[in-house]
Amino acid sequence: MHREEGMKVKPIFWQDDAVMILDQRLLPWQIKYLKCTKVQQVAKSIKNMAIRGAPAIGIAAAMGVALGVQGLKSKRGLEKKFDRFCEIIAQSRPTARNLFWALERMKRVFEANKEKSLEELKEMLKKEAQTILEEDIAINKRIGQQGKHLIKPGMTVLTHCNAGALATGGYGTALGIIRAAWEADIKFQVIADETRPYLQGARLTAWELKQEGIPVTVISDNTAGYLMAQGKIDLIIVGADRIAANGDTANKIGTYSLAVLAAKHNIPFYVAAPFSTFDLNIPDGKAIPIEERSGEEVIYIGRKRVCPEGVNALYYAFDVTPVELITGIVTEEGILRPPFKKEIRNFV
Ligand code: MRU
Repeated sequence: MHREEGMKVKPIFWQDDAVMILDQRLLPWQIKYLKCTKVQQVAKSIKNMAIRGAPAIGIAAAMGVALGVQGLKSKRGLEKKFDRFCEIIAQSRPTARNLFWALERMKRVFEANKEKSLEELKEMLKKEAQTILEEDIAINKRIGQQGKHLIKPGMTVLTHCNAGALATGGYGTALGIIRAAWEADIKFQVIADETRPYLQGARLTAWELKQEGIPVTVISDNTAGYLMAQGKIDLIIVGADRIAANGDTANKIGTYSLAVLAAKHNIPFYVAAPFSTFDLNIPDGKAIPIEERSGEEVIYIGRKRVCPEGVNALYYAFDVTPVELITGIVTEEGILRPPFKKEIRNFV
């Protein structure tokens, strides 16, 4: 088992010439790694959500491309092959900005080093992917430090999906803030939405927080409004998959409903995300590509079908929270607050 000091299992890492991906579909029941030696295996792991969460997907994308080049025997058709590796990864999932951000970073390293020997190029690309991983962990920790003061003793903090160590290189964004506050000896409790249909909250967030000894209670997604109406939620912190130039934020489906409820009940609603999640090329949330996954994933819970035969199901994996419902965006450089457009322009 691969652990960092005092930390949970690593979601992704290099082992010799392979990329090891923790199969999150099996958590919390089983800790099993997928050994990927080909770019196609990494793309498949992203697509079928063995690895998920925007920053983790970005790291996997970078490692996948590096893996593709690793497998080359000569420089014949190098540029075409490299573009193809990037394309294979780009086709895996559309919403997380971090995936495309990581590909752009790998492309820059490729362009700057493509005249070097193949062995040197392989080394540079592998190193860049590893740097993306290490930087992500450091950035998460800075997000944690920036945001930990939002959590006061005795609070109940609601989070959605899993924006934790599993969704990143390690540590987490929304859960990074929660971790940092706990490490600072602030005592509070967490409510985790179960997050149907993949159950990131019930399976992953609860698992991570349990390991840290942070009190966590799982609720079905439709319970959040009732708790807010009763004054039982003090603060909401979620992650992000893509943030537009005006601050509109795509995150796990159900985030928008939480933000509307939070506004109704005057509960502060924070997004936690690194700069690599911002997409300054798109003006607002309408332009964010929202992934639609197979309705089968809704129709079945595990192997059990829960709808009658012949019934259709819709599965949008993300929704967009309009910026006016967001209290602040916690980044590695500080908390952005309204007017977001200006803050994003100045800082990101
Ligand atoms: O479909 P997923 O599990 O990849 O969705 C993940 C989320 O929506 C997270 O909240 C987001 O990626 C932020 S992770 C730090």
